[in-house]
Amino acid sequence: MMWRSFPQLSLALLALRACAVNLKPTRAVKGNIDVSASPFITVQNGEFFVNGSRFAFVGTNAYWLHTLNTDGDIDKTLADIASTGVKIVRAWAFNDVDTIPEAGTWFQHISNNGTITINNGTNGLQKLDTMVQLAQKHGLYLLLSLTNNWSLARNTTVLRNILSNDYGGMDSYVRQLSSNLEHDQFYKNVTIIGTFKNYISHVVSRYKNNPSILGWEIANDARCNSTLPASSQCNSTTITSWHSNIAQHILMEDPNHLVSSGNQGFFCFGCPKLFQKGTSPSPSQIPPISVTPLPPRHILNEKQDMSLGRYEVKKSDTSFVRRQQNANLGASFDGTFGVDSEDILSIPEIGFGSFQLFPDQENYGPVNLTLSPLNRTFQVGVDWIQRHIATGLDTGKPVTLLGFGLVTLDNIPAYVPFGSDNASTESIQQPFGVTDSQRDQSCRLWLGAAIFGGLRGIIQYQWGQANLTAQAGTAIPPSSNSSGTTSNQDETGLSPNDGYSILGTSHEEAIGILKTAAEQMSLTISSSSQPPLAPQPSPTPSPQAQQPSSGMRQLQGFSIFACILSMLVGTLWISLFLVV
Ligand SMILES: *[C@@H]1O[C@H](CO)[C@@H](O)[C@H](O)[C@H]1NC(C)=O
Ligand SMILES: *[C@@H]1O[C@H](CO)[C@@H](O)[C@H](O)[C@H]1NC(C)=O
Ligand SMILES: *[C@@H]1O[C@H](CO)[C@@H](O)[C@H](O)[C@H]1NC(C)=O
Ligand SMILES: *[C@@H]1O[C@H](CO)[C@@H](O)[C@H](O)[C@H]1NC(C)=O
Ligand SMILES: *[C@@H]1O[C@H](CO)[C@@H](O)[C@H](O)[C@H]1NC(C)=O
Ligand SMILES: *[C@@H]1O[C@H](CO)[C@@H](O)[C@H](O)[C@H]1NC(C)=O
Ligand SMILES: *[C@@H]1O[C@H](CO)[C@@H](O)[C@H](O)[C@H]1NC(C)=O
Ligand SMILES: *[C@@H]1O[C@H](CO)[C@@H](O)[C@H](O)[C@H]1NC(C)=O
Ligand SMILES: *[C@@H]1O[C@H](CO)[C@@H](O)[C@H](O)[C@H]1NC(C)=O
Ligand SMILES: *[C@@H]1O[C@H](CO)[C@@H](O)[C@H](O)[C@H]1NC(C)=O
Ligand SMILES: *[C@@H]1O[C@H](CO)[C@@H](O)[C@H](O)[C@H]1NC(C)=O
Repeated sequence: MMWRSFPQLSLALLALRACAVNLKPTRAVKGNIDVSASPFITVQNGEFFVNGSRFAFVGTNAYWLHTLNTDGDIDKTLADIASTGVKIVRAWAFNDVDTIPEAGTWFQHISNNGTITINNGTNGLQKLDTMVQLAQKHGLYLLLSLTNNWSLARNTTVLRNILSNDYGGMDSYVRQLSSNLEHDQFYKNVTIIGTFKNYISHVVSRYKNNPSILGWEIANDARCNSTLPASSQCNSTTITSWHSNIAQHILMEDPNHLVSSGNQGFFCFGCPKLFQKGTSPSPSQIPPISVTPLPPRHILNEKQDMSLGRYEVKKSDTSFVRRQQNANLGASFDGTFGVDSEDILSIPEIGFGSFQLFPDQENYGPVNLTLSPLNRTFQVGVDWIQRHIATGLDTGKPVTLLGFGLVTLDNIPAYVPFGSDNASTESIQQPFGVTDSQRDQSCRLWLGAAIFGGLRGIIQYQWGQANLTAQAGTAIPPSSNSSGTTSNQDETGLSPNDGYSILGTSHEEAIGILKTAAEQMSLTISSSSQPPLAPQPSPTPSPQAQQPSSGMRQLQGFSIFACILSMLVGTLWISLFLVV
């Protein structure tokens, strides 16, 4: 079932309008240009801007876009995505190989003698050229990742590039270039850093004048451990410093586009910080926000009551995270992965924050054991989203959910955990494998929590496309015919699937949810589309602190109030999505 519009929605939107006034003083991100007219997406006051207007988006993932065999297929895929109202496509802009393949796309050959070959042919970077050009044609923006934490040793019968973790990535560099097979060589070996920077230079400078790129994502899911183990020295200092180094390099080559991390959003409350939270006041100066619980039950009608009774959606507030800092919340909060997403977000060159939500693969905090397993999964997702909304408010930069999903029963055969090349039915959240309708329910809930909570970008994982041109040896292989033999080429190919594709019996429903979410997101923006509050004096915004004026503080006070109001109203709507 689709989201519906309710009259009360306008109240929520009215309140959200006030949220557009940032809670924090301006933090101009390095690399920004004048927000008032730029066709490039920029960031100011915790918001995205483009063409002089606020921008927020619902997006989808298509890591495999550059593997499609014809330009027509890329065109059709982007046209179909654009027709949903989705604005952003997140895709891989890397494809590293240790041996040049006979068929299919590849971008970079890393030879174990240190020779690097970048393929700018028609099965190389020209695929990216096509993606960028066609994205522009369809009014879409691309968020392009430059490498991946995950990379398989190719020791599998699964065709190359089917799985999202099978496009090369960090461990491909380490395996080929270092005698020391530790994942964190990628973050600290000068030769390897130089090789990665060389690749980045080729790619980002190629598109630096093209506005149809939202930004560069340094790496998908960077962390200490990977398919190769980490050394015992790897910690958040290693990974945060590396982000800073790479972000500076990207902006040197391409000052026009935003840079983001791509990490999973892990916290490390106890980690020493390398970066100050920029121009933000220190935590003690942040006005305390205390939110009273949801309205008592009698205010809600019976239908709403049903959904809220056992399924309480918590309100977001900036003290939420801080209050729990000392609690033992598990690996996603204590630096186990070597990732401190808050410190990374404080790097001046990082334009916007990122996090991911894959409860089948990762623990995101304590669960309420009195809830049913499915409701636990739902709740964990809402909590995780709200924590990151709070982080965004805390740093004055927009935060984006890069990918979220649950594996459906139909998708189990295609599912492979990110760190593996073999299917597994083990999942952190049980039961593993949800029905399509449960998947859709989670999707509505999390999209609602993000949009009404004030997240500025949310990207579903992942798009699926049918009727593609298949070619033997590529990631879109010809399907078997009834006699069990395969022809060399046909036109019934399916896009690669690592367990999260929306193709299938519930395809139309999943697309309908994206459509509605995209509409809702643009409503929240159009209701707050007054010009930027305080246009930046050009040319170069100072990275130094700008203390807010007292008028600004008052506005902030009001907006905090209005923002909370909108969140309260928003949570009511979120609860409705559960019962329809
Ligand atoms: C390194 O390997 C590449 C291909 O793997 C080869 O073309 C090149 O000649 C080699 N270079 C040296 C110096 O051995
Ligand atoms: C590919 O790279 C070569 C060598 O750097 C260059 O001469 C050529 O113009 C490039 N071709 C394209 C299509 O970018
Ligand atoms: C910004 O303007 C450009 C050029 O007119 C246009 O192609 C693009 O779609 C606009 N972006 C948005 C989000 O409206
Ligand atoms: C490849 O897989 C085989 C069988 O599973 C295993 O014995 C071998 O060690 C693997 N090789 C690598 C490089 O992982
Ligand atoms: C870094 O990589 C180079 C080769 O690329 C290797 O010779 C060197 O041993 C590595 N450095 C360390 C500290 O492992
Ligand atoms: C990460 O790797 C280190 C060293 O290989 C190991 O001791 C640690 O248990 C690993 N942590 C996780 C979460 O896998
Ligand atoms: C990481 O380890 C280094 C020493 O190896 C230490 O100086 C630094 O403080 C550590 N960082 C964190 C966040 O623990
Ligand atoms: C799970 O949530 C649904 C809908 O919110 C609710 O009806 C149901 O009672 C909950 N079940 C449990 C065991 O929490
Ligand atoms: C857990 O959920 C129950 C309802 O099922 C609720 O009464 C309780 O307050 C929740 N506990 C926490 C710690 O959120
Ligand atoms: C996956 O693992 C199973 C059992 O562990 C094994 O039988 C199968 O061969 C593996 N598949 C691949 C593609 O490695
Ligand atoms: C693929 O093409 C067939 C035949 O034209 C059509 O019936 C089917 O709906 C298409 N599938 C999708 C998912 O677009």
